[in-house]
Amino acid sequence: MVRRYVFGTPIETDAVINKPEASKGAAPYVEKNGDVLLYDMQPGDIVYGLGENVRGINKRGWIYVSNCSDDPNHQEDTKSLYGAHNFIIVSGEDSRPFGLFLDTPDKIVFDIGYTVNSRMTISMDSGSYELYVIEAESLEGIVKEFRQMIGMPFLPPKWAFGFGQSRWSYRTSEEVREVVRQYRSSHIPIDSIYLDIDYMERYKDFTIDRERFPDFEKLVEELKEQGIHLVPIIDGGVKIEEGYEVYEEGVRNRYFCKDENGEDFVVGVWPGRCHFPDMLNDEARKWFGGKYKYLLDKGIDGFWNDMNEPAIFYSERRLRMVFDKIEEYRTMNLDVKTFFEFKDLVASLEKNPEDYRSFYHNYRGQSIRHDRVHNLFGYYMTRSAGEAFEELEPEKRILMFSRSSYIGMHRYGGVWTGDNKSWWSHLLMNLKMLPSLNMCGFLYSGADIGGFGSDATEDLVLRWLALGIFVPLMRNHAADGTRRQEAYAFGNTEAFAEIIGLRYRLLPYLYSEFMKAALKNEMYARPLGFVWPGDSIARRVEDQLMIGESIMIAPVYEQNAAGRVVYLPEPMKMLRFAKGDVTEEKVLPAGHHFVEIPLEEVVLFIRRGHILPLASGGERVGDIDWNDLKLYHFAGPGALYELYDDDGISRRVELEKNLRRLVL
Ligand code: GLC
Repeated sequence: MVRRYVFGTPIETDAVINKPEASKGAAPYVEKNGDVLLYDMQPGDIVYGLGENVRGINKRGWIYVSNCSDDPNHQEDTKSLYGAHNFIIVSGEDSRPFGLFLDTPDKIVFDIGYTVNSRMTISMDSGSYELYVIEAESLEGIVKEFRQMIGMPFLPPKWAFGFGQSRWSYRTSEEVREVVRQYRSSHIPIDSIYLDIDYMERYKDFTIDRERFPDFEKLVEELKEQGIHLVPIIDGGVKIEEGYEVYEEGVRNRYFCKDENGEDFVVGVWPGRCHFPDMLNDEARKWFGGKYKYLLDKGIDGFWNDMNEPAIFYSERRLRMVFDKIEEYRTMNLDVKTFFEFKDLVASLEKNPEDYRSFYHNYRGQSIRHDRVHNLFGYYMTRSAGEAFEELEPEKRILMFSRSSYIGMHRYGGVWTGDNKSWWSHLLMNLKMLPSLNMCGFLYSGADIGGFGSDATEDLVLRWLALGIFVPLMRNHAADGTRRQEAYAFGNTEAFAEIIGLRYRLLPYLYSEFMKAALKNEMYARPLGFVWPGDSIARRVEDQLMIGESIMIAPVYEQNAAGRVVYLPEPMKMLRFAKGDVTEEKVLPAGHHFVEIPLEEVVLFIRRGHILPLASGGERVGDIDWNDLKLYHFAGPGALYELYDDDGISRRVELEKNLRRLVL
């Protein structure tokens, strides 16, 4: 059951598409104290949710701020990441679980036992918000109710479940061809190559640098013949440049965000000075979405939307202030106070909160200051593309994922979890975020495999891939200037081919589980506590996941580890893959086990009574033979697996019609 409470005059976010009638009276579970909601946590309570955030699957013990932020160096003490996902579930040891969704586009602080260990306080920036209280018998039931309310997630095309290679940047057509050649000649499966900002002319959205990509259209075609999709990036800011159509149209039609004087607001991002399209303005959003046609017409069928928190390097106004101030420091004797002020001055240009309070949107006929709707920008940028795709490509699924997001955006695209590092801790964080994002509707998600910033090592990339093969969005991406981390870059191509190859063997199962989860409002990746809520050990497991109904994963996330301890809530069958094939099948009893997992191997665990269909593999999704599946299982005769399959591209999908019964 869902109850909705309205406080003040909330700004509509369009997160929820099936709204229940508003309830009167006080909301259950939480105590309202001004603009703060309070809940006293019991020692056994686990708090799930909050989508993209640091720390555990259990969010207790930290403070999280919903305020979409670009933070490539995030660590344990980070409070805000790229998305704002205000949904939590409280799971008591003996009490009924309940869920809370706070729907407001401005900042929210979730203090989950940070200030007072046993107390949760949720503070809203403004007194206007909607609170949804969700009750069901089970944790999964709560997710289901919530997801019914927010609508079905975005469905990517099937090829987008293949492996993708990215780097900032592959700078020329030739470089792209070379990456493909390396993959194909090493027989490492791959389905997509990503184009980062350097494919554009001077970082202008919807342009192509013809010096570096003179044959762009031919490249798209040629790669398609090899089963490879090119996926270009689109950024949130539009370069100010005379003669650039997108800029000129935006100015002419008043489609850009305004400053307090009604002038187009000027910020610096990759191209230098830019304007932000007013993604919240219906007309501007339609216009910006229409621009994707430029690339669709060239055969492009997938995009990633970036810098849409939106990221600000500087505002024109602050830049001027800082330069003036620097002049003052020039003649000073910089001391303990002034030296640090001086040092921080230039850093204060980036993501300055004051800048986010200095521009305006025209949202449904009202001028609204940006900070009040900040968390919607990435959502509405991606919505602009999603709505345009529905018109421009009514039959076809187009790949789309975004860096910034708010709940509701999950209907238009997936997310990648932004800039991370080649750190072992970020590998584990990738695992932990996955179920939390699923709860919030983001099924198609993933992190930059191998890490974006810093130099990756071969073992990190292999271990990360061994997790990545189970993650819907499986993409290796790295920052400019870092060590190469393509699957062929470390020489040991065989191991990489085998691990990535396993993804392609698992793909019928993974796709089937993903699609069923999307169509039935369920989760694709579950914490063990969702499946075994009565098992006090399983509830606390933070480094294993159920992937779909049949398998549990327990990846290695520590350097130089020979294996790891795995907890089995019940007997399971372990499958070991070495050299791309099953080399060991062994039933393990419930309890803790140390499982050896050499660097080049993958293990997974089949749940009792369940089946894992495995294909023979392929070097691209299109090669996989869905009719030649071998059934691995931990079940007796008559056991059944319902395999979902479809053509992988049409928007119209029907669950029942596309299910095939695989019986032992
Ligand atoms: C941002 C993105 C990253 C991309 C870079 C250059 O940092 O998060 O993925 O490579 O911009 O476009």
